[in-house]
Order: sequence, then C-alpha cells, then structure tokens
Amino acid sequence: MSKSWENWTEQKIANFQEDFLAWYQQEKRNLPWRYNHDPYRIWISEIMLQQTRVDTVIDYFYRFMEQFPTIQDLANAPEDKLLKVWEGLGYYSRARNLQAAAKQVMGEFDGEFPTTVEDIRSLKGIGPYTAGAIGSIAFEIPEPAIDGNVMRVVSRLFCIEADIAKASSRNAFDEAMRRIISQDQPGDFNQAMMDLGSSICTPTNPQCDVCPIQQYCQAYSENRQTSFPVKSKKQKPKDVYYVAGIIENNQQEIFLQQRPDTGLLANMWLFPLEEISAPRFKELQEQYDPNAWDLFSSTIVAEESPNFFPEQDVVWQKKVLGEVKHVFSHLRWHILVFYGRCAAPLTLKGHWVKPNDFPEYVFPKPQQKMLEVFENNSADDKD
Ligand code: ADE
Repeated sequence: MSKSWENWTEQKIANFQEDFLAWYQQEKRNLPWRYNHDPYRIWISEIMLQQTRVDTVIDYFYRFMEQFPTIQDLANAPEDKLLKVWEGLGYYSRARNLQAAAKQVMGEFDGEFPTTVEDIRSLKGIGPYTAGAIGSIAFEIPEPAIDGNVMRVVSRLFCIEADIAKASSRNAFDEAMRRIISQDQPGDFNQAMMDLGSSICTPTNPQCDVCPIQQYCQAYSENRQTSFPVKSKKQKPKDVYYVAGIIENNQQEIFLQQRPDTGLLANMWLFPLEEISAPRFKELQEQYDPNAWDLFSSTIVAEESPNFFPEQDVVWQKKVLGEVKHVFSHLRWHILVFYGRCAAPLTLKGHWVKPNDFPEYVFPKPQQKMLEVFENNSADDKD
C-alpha cells in the first residue's frame, strides 16, 4: 500500500494544518461540551456521541450534567436513576460502563480524571478513539481520535485502500493521522476532522467544492472521492419476531416485566414479550386487522402465547393494536402488539403499574414505541 502521507513535506503539513484549523475556527459548531476543557464533560459527550447523532445528544448531555454534575455524583448514582437519564439513547452498556469508570476514577485516581492517554484507556468503556478524543480535547495531547467519520476523511485525503470494516486497517489511519495532526492544537484538529466528516466530507455526495482541504485531497485530485472509504459489507441484523401483551387489570393497571440483569436491555422494563417464529408472525399479521375490535376467549390467547398466560383468565378486547420494529446493532425486532384484559392475578413475575407511574420505570426504545402504539389506539377509542 502506498503511504502518500510520507511524501508530504513539513511545509505542506504546516500549510495544511493552518488552513484546516482556520476553517474550524470559523465554522465550528457551538456545542455544550466545547465550552471548556473539563475532561468529565468531554468524556460524557464522547461516550454519548459514539452511536448517536450530535443533535440528539445535546439534550441528553444537558440532562446528564444536571443530574450528575461531578464524577463523584456519577459514581454514587443509583442505577435506575442513571438508566433513566440514558432512556431512549440506546446501547445502555455505555451508561453502566460510565459509572464503572467513574468508580475507578474515585478509587484509583483520587477522584481526578487521569491525564495520560494510557491511564485514560485503563478506564472501563474507553478504547483508543475515546482516549484520543479526551486526551487531545481536554489535555492537548497530540493523539489521534479515529472514528468512522475520520477514517472517511483520511481515506480520501490519502487514497487509503484499507478496508475500514477491519480492525487491522486501523494502523494505516493511525499512522497517517500521527503524521498530520497539529502538535499545538490537537484537540481542535481532531474536532475539525469530526466536523468535516459530518458536514462536508459525507459518505455520499461529499461537498468538495466548499471543502477547506480540497487542494490537499488525493481522491479529489483523481476524482475518486466516492471510491473511498473501502468498506466490506456488514452482516445484516438478525430478524427476531415477538408478540407483546399489553395487559390491563380491573384497577386499570398495566403489566410490566423487568429484563434480566445481564444481556440486552438489562434491568429495563417492557410489556411481556414472547418470541415466535417468522412464519407464525406472518400468519398473525395477515390474520389480524388492527382496525377490528373483537372480543374473544382466553383459549385463543393461550394458543397464541402459552408462556404469557398459562390458564389465565384473559379476555382480549382487541386482537392487535399494531406493529413495532426496532433495530439494534445486531438484531431487528418485529413486535405485534396485542391488548387484553385480565381478571385473575397473573402468575408471571412483574409489576402492575398505573400508566401515570410509567415515568418511574426505565423504558428502552422498543417499549416506548409500543407505548406509543397503545396510546394512539386509546386516543382513537375516545373519538
Ligand atoms: N463526534 C464525536 N465527537 C465529537 C465532537 N467532540 N464534536 C463533534 N462531533 C463529534
């Protein structure tokens, strides 16, 4: 592989940095974690930004800082309060890792956020990208912060053919970035890369005509921008099919179940779900009309969902409320949402909860979507 960054002279690198940083100075977005160099704020923002868009993160960031203004507050937070602030942001292990790392800072670093890349990397949930971002932005350490956006920019800048889906390609990007990163303003340099990647050097239709580093870009000069980055196809998420029961008792309480304390959506609350096969899901989809009200006996329900309602006296008022889809990184959930009334107490483990008290429970995204389907139906019924 040609390493065209090795051919850049010191003068060219200096010119490049000057042009790029001047652009950043002028165009940088006014984001709440850019107000100062507090490593705690920068850390939280970088973790939130790992799988989530800037526009979404801003509100979560403010709420998080309000609830947990210091590392100590985060270390001592009850888990349900922490998950509540994270509710809807997804990838909840990020929040759990943040707290584990906050405890490490309290225990191993005397409550002071560590100041070397090596120590920062020793914290739970922090890999090379996040350590580079915090090290450079908070402490001006010239360490690259290489995420998908940065790989795209750098792959175009130097026509790097390495497959960005492979971990082994990281070295090439790391080497190229170390050659060009500003030694005086590495934090701004890394953030300029991130901003350029998200605003101008986009995956499709990059806006090369307004790019501040167009004259340095090898892909642009060869008119091959869209050939980079090279990326092998990701495995498609696996489809999983469920029926969900929104079950109401005579006190107008709804049944919620808590997920196990490990694995996907650990400890969060959902309407009871039961996995069914893909063909069965299709059958149910075709069989049930969301617009038709129907009363029918628990026998049918027991057939549908033997694990929810073993011999329970459940009367279904509406066969199906609707369908919810949710994509995780590796799974795609398809849920048919049913509503029913239950006279007898359920033998299942869970809580009967008044809808007014739902805000006290941590609901992951698929649960929020099911709740929306339920609320929309309830609104229809009132018409
Ligand atoms: N994406 C990840 N980190 C970022 C940052 N510090 N600024 C803007 N976008 C980002």
